[in-house]
Amino acid sequence: MICNNLGVNEKGHLTFAGFDTVELAEKYQTPAYIMDEQKIREKCRIYKKAMSEYFGGESMPLFASKSLCFKHIYKIMAEEGMGIDVVSSGELYTAASTGFPMEKAYFHGNNKTDFDISFGMDKGIGYFMCDNADELKVINAFAKDRGIKQKVILRLTPGIDPHTHAKISTGKVDSKFGAAIETGQAKELLELALSMDNIDVKGFHCHIGSQIFEYKPFCDAAIIMIKFIVDMKSELGFETDTLNIGGGMGVKYVESDPEIDYAANIKGIAELIKGECAKYGVKMPQILMEPGRSIVADAGLTLYTVGGRKEISGFRNYVSIDGGMPDNPRYTLYQSPYTVVVANKMNEKADYECTIAGRCCESGDLIQEGVSIAKPVRGDIIAVLTTGAYNYAMASNYNAIAKPPVIMLNGNDSYVAVRRETFEDMTACQN
Ligand code: LLP
Repeated sequence: MICNNLGVNEKGHLTFAGFDTVELAEKYQTPAYIMDEQKIREKCRIYKKAMSEYFGGESMPLFASKSLCFKHIYKIMAEEGMGIDVVSSGELYTAASTGFPMEKAYFHGNNKTDFDISFGMDKGIGYFMCDNADELKVINAFAKDRGIKQKVILRLTPGIDPHTHAKISTGKVDSKFGAAIETGQAKELLELALSMDNIDVKGFHCHIGSQIFEYKPFCDAAIIMIKFIVDMKSELGFETDTLNIGGGMGVKYVESDPEIDYAANIKGIAELIKGECAKYGVKMPQILMEPGRSIVADAGLTLYTVGGRKEISGFRNYVSIDGGMPDNPRYTLYQSPYTVVVANKMNEKADYECTIAGRCCESGDLIQEGVSIAKPVRGDIIAVLTTGAYNYAMASNYNAIAKPPVIMLNGNDSYVAVRRETFEDMTACQN
């Protein structure tokens, strides 16, 4: 099994965090996102421990809540002592509504609106991750109106191509995010920030992309960032307090993906950063990381019910399920690989090759192609594994399909963290 929270019980059913998934499907109905709370906490602790051990006590992981956003997640993050990265006023609102400590919240995004900036300040956000000069001017003006000095971290692009899917690669010079070091824009942004009375520049940020397996691209980015820190010290006398090296560590979705040792990766990156700082004689900055996927992806799976099979001889077999691109658009968008199993037939031979099709009125609504599973019949339960990240968070109501609930498993308890949407919920905003 691709993660240690998965197993098979004596009935031949898939188990997840010790629960029989077929019973969960019966109890909560399908489709349903199922999440393992202990796995989320375990991942937070791996990051926290490794970062404090290798980077020092000041360092902190920020959970990238774009990967999974609902109230209960922020409660878990607060309890685990994590910071958070938010990318919209909506995420910030959700976090704030749970009492999440705002000084540990970092506001991202390449186009923060005036509303976002005032909303963030009014909520007492710790830091703006400032993307560009236009935004910086508004942050300065709004901070002046409030008589405060706003802490900011400047988002830079180090010019790294991490060889992940193009749509989730962000650190190249040609990116909508941040100011490029290579073109001189990063230095200009820093000079502008330093000239402003109501801006307190704490440091720099980069995020090179997502679903990255090796730690070398992070090191390559860190080398460039530290060189920039060194240059800004000698050219502008600027002392960097904080370096945020972003998120992006990969997750095992299918057997062929490598096993990732997050603590070892963090150790490797830390050794490199310490070495670079020592080489240039600059102080080691506080290091922040922003993991999203690697905190929650394998803490989740999605359960569906099979509607039927369609065998088109000479072409392929389709298995239709009661969900699809509205609850998981990732195959449609990025051709993302997933492991698919028939949860009530785990001991049967998985030799039925098929395409898992969603229920939307659109041919591209597929969850996976060319998978081999036990031959399913209508009523069987399909589990798509590793759906904890960027599934619920990216869910839509396409075809007016209601969003599934998020069910949390915790020890012997299961509880509804997000209830199933109703037709009334879906039409609530409509006049
Ligand atoms: N920090 C920043 C600034 C980011 O843009 C992201 C992800 C992260 C942190 C977290 O990266 P992670 O640790 O989750 O890889 N919807 C796509 C992923 C988009 C990632 C966007 N930024 C997907 O489903 O694969």
